Amino acid sequence: MKRILSSLTLSGLLALSLALQGCGNPSESDAPSNEGGNASEKSTFTIGMSQCNLGEPWRVQMNADVKKAAEAHDNIKVVFKDAQNDTLKQRAHVEEFVSAEVDLIIISPKEAQPLTEPIAKAVAAGVPVIVLDRDLLGDQYTCFIGADNKKIGRKAGEWIVEQLGGTGTVVELKGLMTSTPGQDRHAGFVEALKGSNVQVIFEADMQWLEPNARKEMESALARHDSIDMVYAHNDPGAHGAYLAAKAADRDGDIRFVGIDALPHEGVAYVQQGIMDATFQYPTGGAEAIEMALKIMNGEEVPKRITLGSRVFTQENVATGGEALP
Ligand code: FRU
Repeated sequence: MKRILSSLTLSGLLALSLALQGCGNPSESDAPSNEGGNASEKSTFTIGMSQCNLGEPWRVQMNADVKKAAEAHDNIKVVFKDAQNDTLKQRAHVEEFVSAEVDLIIISPKEAQPLTEPIAKAVAAGVPVIVLDRDLLGDQYTCFIGADNKKIGRKAGEWIVEQLGGTGTVVELKGLMTSTPGQDRHAGFVEALKGSNVQVIFEADMQWLEPNARKEMESALARHDSIDMVYAHNDPGAHGAYLAAKAADRDGDIRFVGIDALPHEGVAYVQQGIMDATFQYPTGGAEAIEMALKIMNGEEVPKRITLGSRVFTQENVATGGEALP
């Protein structure tokens, strides 16, 4: 598993140096070197990090968390790539990292199915892979790190049922349904509503994006005179829905619930009274670097690491929210 840079092929070196250009690499200046060393005394590990879309605040935070954790170790170099929400680009990232012979890949995949095969091939080629936040199909990866989306969806559903006293109308704005968090946040939510009189009167896939959520909410508002709550699979979605309701002068009648709880996004919206609740979705960036180091040093790591979550509401936001039981 431990590969030395002097063993890189020429094309691998070329690909790596291309990848290093303009990638926001935390330690760009100290190029990986094996001068005077031998294979068992490798001084620098190169990690390829493929992010599915850096256009979203939560993903900017994930990269920042990875970068910060990596900077605490002077033997780690991270090469960041942004797939710009394009699955084909992200598949290419994986292949490029394998031919560049990186020591490990961290990937936060856009979609499950299309990324499953390239990752399986990377692992088969001897490159360990940590999958962050969105899952793949099957188990052909080294380690998965992420929060329990089904549980978060269920807790959001339970909270909504409780707030509505068991009866009411909800708009559900779903995350990309070809990604596992969208599927799981929906499944958990549906489970929590069972047996109550809370009804989903409008649902749409806003693909995690605020402008899409705003458009979908405009349709929901046009069709329904009475909407009690919006459950959006992420905070940008909840905020997009809020903007649509505000433009229609109906924001005062509707309550908004989201997921992510970035301090400067969802939590701030709750503080400002724009949203009623947000459920934290930790990025796992620091944990990914911790596990990467272990893997690259030949240590065993758990196959799946589940991160905890917190809920922030009007009642508890001032005191830092509450851990989800
Ligand atoms: C960002 C994001 C987050 C969400 C996560 C799910 O792309 O949409 O808002 O919690 O992805 O994977």
